[in-house]
Amino acid sequence: MKIVKEAKTFEQVNTELLIVGVQKNCDHISGWSKFVSFYGESLEEWIRSGDINTDRKKMTKIPYTGSNKKLKRVLFVGLGDTKTLTENQLRETFGLVGKELRNIKACEFTIWLESFTASPIDENDIAYLFAEGARLGFYQIPNYKTTSNEIDLYMDAVHFVTEADIDEIAASFEVGKIYADAVNEARNLVNLPPNLLTATELANYAEKLAKQYDFEVEILDKAQLEELGMGGILSVNKGSKEEPRLITLKYQATEKWEGVIGLVGKGVTYDTGGYSIKPKTGMVGMKGDMGGAAAVLGAMKIIGEIRPNKNVVAVIGSTDNMISGEAFKPDDVITTYSGKTVEVLNTDAEGRLVLADAVTYAQQQGASSLIDVATLTGGVITALGFDKTGALTNNEAFFDAFIEASIETGEFVWGMPLTENDKKRIRKSDVADLNNSPGRDGHMIFGGGFVGEFIENIPWIHLDIAGTSDANQAHDLGPKGGTGVMVRTLATFVERLGEAVQ
Ligand code: BES
Ligand code: ZN
Ligand code: ZN
Repeated sequence: MKIVKEAKTFEQVNTELLIVGVQKNCDHISGWSKFVSFYGESLEEWIRSGDINTDRKKMTKIPYTGSNKKLKRVLFVGLGDTKTLTENQLRETFGLVGKELRNIKACEFTIWLESFTASPIDENDIAYLFAEGARLGFYQIPNYKTTSNEIDLYMDAVHFVTEADIDEIAASFEVGKIYADAVNEARNLVNLPPNLLTATELANYAEKLAKQYDFEVEILDKAQLEELGMGGILSVNKGSKEEPRLITLKYQATEKWEGVIGLVGKGVTYDTGGYSIKPKTGMVGMKGDMGGAAAVLGAMKIIGEIRPNKNVVAVIGSTDNMISGEAFKPDDVITTYSGKTVEVLNTDAEGRLVLADAVTYAQQQGASSLIDVATLTGGVITALGFDKTGALTNNEAFFDAFIEASIETGEFVWGMPLTENDKKRIRKSDVADLNNSPGRDGHMIFGGGFVGEFIENIPWIHLDIAGTSDANQAHDLGPKGGTGVMVRTLATFVERLGEAVQ
């Protein structure tokens, strides 16, 4: 997408579409009277009469027939009362603009930045939020319809009307674009059918990313995992014909490999539940059980683009969870990579077994703080619904910094308690160190708490994205399907994290 680094006046706009924000009180916008005289006096009357809707998130598209012969229409975007407009609401509003741009097949357009200013949101913030929101809203799920005659649509170019420094505006826009494009790529991974996205393919994707951004990469195959004794991931993989993969990416910014942030993702490419089989209605959608891996890879893409001064190791455990004569069973006792043994009570609680080995490996690779991300439990949906990611932590300062990042990105995260009593239940087994399914009461906590058993005294956050990773209906920032949740928050967190909490 071309970012045209040349600010235009209204008379010079040379795209067919101009995007303008309309607020309850437009008069205080710098340049408003200029716009009125450019557009025509009818504008203020239409705003007063409601023909141009100023309500937040309402859009009005009107043909333009004035002196600028290139300009064909203006998309007025309602902002409501800008005194109460938050960055998050503006991002969502731009998401809806992105959807409208796709609907009207507008691939090149001009945006008048000042019309969206609402203190303390300045032109740079607007450029950033527009790029991010509109590109997220513009996203469409790739499909395999042989009868489709839809053409691929891309946003080709953006132009600006602004009084602000155009180089700064372009730079802010570029960052928003980087964030959105990484989310969209994570969405593509989640939306891929499971016959196409196997562990091997996920590893191929990670390898491609590594090449693109010069990450160190290591892909461990089944034989290598056996050699290492990774009984967690291998047990889950036992019923499958597809090989598992343990994917490691390293981004090194400082000379010494220290202060390393570990990002660990659950990459279960399909979860049938195994012998603790899911009911048929609960199985559909389980292609998305690699949402944690997608979040980590999306965050790594942003890190590769932005190149923050931080060291990051990403580890993804990937396999599917299938049934065969060789599959693991309830009652099996397995030995994880850490050496800890686990009594398997439920083969559908497979994500925590994969993560156990992955977090152990990440710590071995130098992670001195760690965040794991996983579509881990239905329990988090029962507790928090589909719009909140559930979290656990062992370090409040570390978690506070993460929450700050999540407030910035607008991705809601809520901390849940992990008590000594919960840990006792995870450790309760007559035959092993741990069990993988202590019960269904509050079981989001058991899932994450189990992963916590493999954390060796470093700051840790567990993110359960089972509710937030896959939207069951369209939302302001995208369609039904993979959301790419946590890509932006993880990357923002890595970018912002001060040395103090590492
Ligand atoms: N992949 C599922 C969790 C999930 C549920 C993700 C719904 C997305 C939507 C996970 O592996 C699972 O099956 N968890 C079980 C755990 C139980 C057996 C303790 C669950 O949530 O029922
Ligand atoms: Zn499962
Ligand atoms: Zn699962």
